[in-house]
Amino acid sequence: MTERKSHKEKRQLVRFLFLKLQPAWRSLDAAEQLEQKEEFVRTLKQFQGRLLLRPYSLMGTRGDCDLMLWQVAEDLETLQAVETAIFSTRLGRYLETPYSYLGMTKRSIYEFPELDSGEDRTIISPSDSRYLFVYPFVKKREWYSLPFEKRQQAMNQHVLIGRKYPSIRINTTYSFGLDDQEFVVAFEGDDPAEFLDLVMELRESEASAYTERDVPVFTCLQMSLAEALDTLGGASVPVAELGTEGDGFVAVAKASELPPGASKRVYLGTEAVAVFNVGGNYYAVSDRCTHGRASLSEGRIVDCDSCILECPWHGGRFDLKSGKPVAGPPVVALRTYRVKLRGDQILVG
Ligand code: FES
Repeated sequence: MTERKSHKEKRQLVRFLFLKLQPAWRSLDAAEQLEQKEEFVRTLKQFQGRLLLRPYSLMGTRGDCDLMLWQVAEDLETLQAVETAIFSTRLGRYLETPYSYLGMTKRSIYEFPELDSGEDRTIISPSDSRYLFVYPFVKKREWYSLPFEKRQQAMNQHVLIGRKYPSIRINTTYSFGLDDQEFVVAFEGDDPAEFLDLVMELRESEASAYTERDVPVFTCLQMSLAEALDTLGGASVPVAELGTEGDGFVAVAKASELPPGASKRVYLGTEAVAVFNVGGNYYAVSDRCTHGRASLSEGRIVDCDSCILECPWHGGRFDLKSGKPVAGPPVVALRTYRVKLRGDQILVG
């Protein structure tokens, strides 16, 4: 077997939590419905900085679940705290969990030399795609008995088919030993027809013959949490609730955790943000490189005076102050965030 040598890699815990609202909730009066939605939004906002949390609605796409919360965290304890908080709300009394999938990011054991090695997807960096198509996945045990080279060939074919649909992006997480399935796959895309065509074509691939189970399939629509709650029906959350509260700053880390020269990936609402301490000054930009999917919190500062950040994958360089690309492949600027200190807290907004 010619598996890639394992080495210490940063992994993330990933949870797909599907929720179903009990019909009795819709009989509550409008004021109560509104209060419950607002409490739910406030409760989850408390986790800003600790994990990436993307809300999706499945209203209109499935009958057995209504919402999905895609959660990406650094540890299991955070995922557990989110779950406890959800079911401690008043709305939580009316929610059920028809499906739940837990996984971790991990480097593929297969080699794809035509892909840059940096494309190993150990960090989830979601795009702004409108849709997420999710399903648990189990392979037949015969697959694992095949010689590694044969599996590699089948995976090469799989990847080549995927390349024909560049607007569809896959996020694979591994569940071996952690949950019932072997993988959870989540495809991002803006066109359900493209995804349908891709899946049909993959059915003819060699690897597909070794699929044991790849259902249920969930078609999820991305939106803010308040918007997702409003798809459930009942009183609508006012527009003011959709924005951030107060001055918009959120505590994301302790200054003592981020000495000069250090960087850290934090989470602000649905976004991953990279925070840097450059000579005692703090900067924050979107964590996902605009060229590929690199996590910029793992990049390095190559010029402290002008605050130039180098991407760890292909060497693209960005001005941390403006977010603008200054060298290499990226052409699109990074989103920048305001940063301030309050005591030992670093706040980003
Ligand atoms: S991912 Fe290519 S330069 Fe950052």
